[in-house]
Amino acid sequence: MLREKVEKTLNLQVEKEGFSSNLYLAMASWTEVNGYPGSATWLYQQAEEERLHMIKIFRYINDRGGCGTVPAFKQPQIEFESLHDIFQKVFEHELFISQSINDLVGVCWEEKDYTTVQFLQWYVQEQIEEESNAKTILDRLNLLGEDKSRLYLFDRDIESFRKPAGAAPAAV
Ligand code: FEO
Repeated sequence: MLREKVEKTLNLQVEKEGFSSNLYLAMASWTEVNGYPGSATWLYQQAEEERLHMIKIFRYINDRGGCGTVPAFKQPQIEFESLHDIFQKVFEHELFISQSINDLVGVCWEEKDYTTVQFLQWYVQEQIEEESNAKTILDRLNLLGEDKSRLYLFDRDIESFRKPAGAAPAAV
């Protein structure tokens, strides 16, 4: 049975994961209508993944005797300056989500809910991959600058920058 504080914090994470999905959907739309179909595909896929992240927590709450609550989402940003602006924001957003997951794990430790700590390990691991993928793309964009033909090639090849699920974090 979930303690009230853990249930409440998990439901806040449901909202954050769902908002992430909507934010990436907004970014997918911008890239699609601004001539970056590869980036759009990447972002649509990311939006799907975030929705799954949301539902996984939602169902865990219910499985543990709590109640997953559908939140009211605030509208995400829908206008962006450039592809670079988009991926800068993706990276910053993933850092924010990582911090949120870590805070959530902290609440579970305080509440001695080790079952939920264990459940959240998947998210801790997932965030390593999410941050790394976003950083790889951002670094690549920073190298390319604003040259349109280079951006065209970047957009065509973006999927190749994604690390396979479960891949070891990049060496530093
Ligand atoms: Fe579900 Fe990208 O964090």
